[in-house]
Amino acid sequence: MLFKSLISAAAFTAFASAKIFYAGVAESSGEFGVWSQDKVKGTGLPGRFGVDYSFIDKKGIDVYVDQNKVNLFRIAFLLERMCPLSYGLGAKFNETHFGYFKEAVDYVTKTKGAYCILDPHNYMRYNDPSQQPMTGSIIGDTSDATAATTAQFGAFWGELAGRFKDNEKVIFGLMNEPHDMKTSLVVQNNQAAIDAIRKAGAKQLILAPGNSWTGGHSWTEGSDPSTQLTQLKDSASNLAFDIHEYLDSDYSGTHAPCANGAAKLAGVTSWLKQNNYKAMITEFGGSNTTQCASMLTEFIKYMDSNDVYIGWTAWAAGPFWGSASACCTDSKQWGSLEPTSKAADGSPGLYQTVWLKVIQPLVPKQLVWSGISSVSGGKLSTKPKLT
Ligand SMILES: *[C@@H]1O[C@H](CO)[C@@H](O)[C@H](O)[C@H]1NC(C)=O
Ligand SMILES: *[C@@H]1O[C@H](CO)[C@@H](O)[C@H](O)[C@H]1NC(C)=O
Repeated sequence: MLFKSLISAAAFTAFASAKIFYAGVAESSGEFGVWSQDKVKGTGLPGRFGVDYSFIDKKGIDVYVDQNKVNLFRIAFLLERMCPLSYGLGAKFNETHFGYFKEAVDYVTKTKGAYCILDPHNYMRYNDPSQQPMTGSIIGDTSDATAATTAQFGAFWGELAGRFKDNEKVIFGLMNEPHDMKTSLVVQNNQAAIDAIRKAGAKQLILAPGNSWTGGHSWTEGSDPSTQLTQLKDSASNLAFDIHEYLDSDYSGTHAPCANGAAKLAGVTSWLKQNNYKAMITEFGGSNTTQCASMLTEFIKYMDSNDVYIGWTAWAAGPFWGSASACCTDSKQWGSLEPTSKAADGSPGLYQTVWLKVIQPLVPKQLVWSGISSVSGGKLSTKPKLT
């Protein structure tokens, strides 16, 4: 009997994905509206909510949760809006702005029952997003008198985490894509944030980024690799790494042809295994070519079959993309992963040609829908009806 029921249980596993606990899409638009052709500092700050930037379109979230049955979103925001330059980076927030952000996080987590990564989309920089990702002082850079300090970064995270400590569906993504800095400083800033989050009493999952745009392919390479992140310590033992990986020739996510597949993750995957770590890939993507379709399929299956990967979010949906593309189109207007998105010529957007066609069939049928966000996942189930 036992033998027989095991066999049938296996037969009913529609898609053999035992280790992906969280899957979904990045919501990008909260960081919009600050670009300045002439690098004019302060452009788009504080910005008009709903005009210059936004966080989510609730109807889009509904489609992803109710129809697509995903359980994870990653919501981008800007540090310079949460902590205006006149306050400095730290525990003092713009409460109006925080209120808009919290409404989006609460909609995803409380109204829809999904998990939500908080994503300060700042490249480990603060004070000048006018030509992000290149401008702004590197947080903790003691050679730059205008730079926010590591302690200020810790204070910011302590405050933010404290405000969400009772929401078990929140995940703390420490920083989007640190780059062109010392890895030792990435480690130092990450550690200050981890310590502050735990000191605030928040126990949820933390995602720590590496250096070099937190790229998976380069994690173990170069003279200053991200492998130094073994130095991080988490008193709550609820830490995973945040990896980004695009499939185009230079891993930037700007080109339409796909050139680099899952094989490029071999180094970081074995590093994770050797150190008994887990990771999420919170940005990845490819365009709508047939080659990208097969490489994206292979990529998602690779995460499924390597149990160091516990979750993923594709780049990107978001209410403000319009027909612009978040990923992988050689600057052509082919739309985004937002459900209503269309290409500029009215033809199907990447939501239809990439998400629905390629990614959606690979969303695990069972994900985690309850319990505190955790590096060890949780109870897998199909999406429950919300009462
Ligand atoms: C706080 O945010 C609101 C809403 O965007 C804005 O009107 C106000 O100017 C901001 N305050 C500061 C100090 O940036
Ligand atoms: C990708 O999508 C755009 C917009 O719909 C379309 O113009 C283009 O032909 C598509 N490319 C492929 C290879 O299907």
